[in-house]
Amino acid sequence: MTPPDFCDDPDLRGPGELGPERRVRERIESAGRITFAEFMEEALYGRGGYYTRPGRIDPEGDYFTSPSLHPAFGALVAVQLRDFWGLLGRPGVFDAVEFGPGDGTLARDVVRYAQQFDETFAAALRYTEFDRTRSDSGAPPTGVTGCVLSNELLDAFPVHRFVIEGGSVLELYVVAGDGGLTEAPGPVSDPAIEQRVAPLIATLPDGYRGEVNLGLRSWADRVAETLERGFVLTIDYGETARELYRPGRSEGSLRAYYRHTLSQNPFQHVGDQDLTAHVDFSAVDSELSRAGFEALGMTTQTAFLDRLGLRSFLGNLPGLGLPAGEVERNRVPMLWLARPDGLGRFNVAFHTRGVDARPPIGLDSRGSGHDPSALPTPLLARDEGRFDLAGRAYPDGGWSTGTWSEILGDDEANTP
Ligand SMILES: C[S@@+](CC[C@H](N)C(=O)[O-])C[C@H]1O[C@@H](n2cnc3c(N)ncnc32)[C@H](O)[C@@H]1O
Repeated sequence: MTPPDFCDDPDLRGPGELGPERRVRERIESAGRITFAEFMEEALYGRGGYYTRPGRIDPEGDYFTSPSLHPAFGALVAVQLRDFWGLLGRPGVFDAVEFGPGDGTLARDVVRYAQQFDETFAAALRYTEFDRTRSDSGAPPTGVTGCVLSNELLDAFPVHRFVIEGGSVLELYVVAGDGGLTEAPGPVSDPAIEQRVAPLIATLPDGYRGEVNLGLRSWADRVAETLERGFVLTIDYGETARELYRPGRSEGSLRAYYRHTLSQNPFQHVGDQDLTAHVDFSAVDSELSRAGFEALGMTTQTAFLDRLGLRSFLGNLPGLGLPAGEVERNRVPMLWLARPDGLGRFNVAFHTRGVDARPPIGLDSRGSGHDPSALPTPLLARDEGRFDLAGRAYPDGGWSTGTWSEILGDDEANTP
């Protein structure tokens, strides 16, 4: 937790405390070098690290996520959970366990919307959150029936970095250079790093750099301990291994975000900037399969939300009797959830175990399991502290314009 006399000097987080950068330097001084994953662990989750401090997802914060934009996201996740509950035979208790919920916005939206649209499901729904940086998080439950879900969790796991040299994989360690922290190659610290990239090495040029997320192993084990029977719903940005480790992306996918500004330099603003890397969804499949789950498929967030009813929500907006400004205030973030140049490009992966029934995943199964037009339309509350996309003067400015069909193409008559 943030010390009461927290101060903004990155090297002095509280009385007698070293900030993340100072601690990184001390560790390098004694060990000579540390892995990038150790650096990232310290920068994000060490004392005074990025995620240990409040206010990361707000209008002045560094980024926004789907739940922070509009309650439509949580509403449609609730619809998906209700479909899972149906496939499981409508048990009297359906556990939804969210890993990495951050401030809990998704949980609140899901529970609230479930109460609005299906009281029997809402009575069965038991929603638990587990975030490593929240002091109110106990251990996740074990052996449940229901769903383990996450949004933008896996991209926040510490990653190891590697470089291809002479056709071999070398690890990129963090060392102290004259001008500050920098990287130096060496033999890999864990053979799993090489194993992840091995099938693709022949396609990658010398000098190619990338990341490997070994935290997926213990995450998959934790999911298996938690979920006895049901579904795993994983929403994040990333690609299959073949797309992620492709010759054209020779500098990797690691990014730093500081006050909505993107940078590729992880060694500045240590502890004050977010660090994130694209998720290798092939590794998600293989780790969950090792832990006993079957991969059902993956779709985009655009198709996921469209199938569940986002277009119905958008279509309903003009008929709700709202002032024009309120329609826009809701329409813009709802659309952004699905825009292919925004959050719509995220992937939604489905895994299961212990269930014979299969959920619809692709857009071709739109509407199966429920009638989207019968769903109530979730709206932003007045003065709600969400990310104000419609009101915000973003450099691109263009994201407040356009309809679904202009942005996404259309195959239906009722285009909002
Ligand atoms: C990018 S934030 C996403 C927050 C939220 N899901 C959202 O969509 O707004 C990632 C969150 O995952 C949490 N986290 C990271 N590693 C975790 C782990 N191993 N177990 C549980 N939570 C974790 C972080 O503390 C942080 O709150």
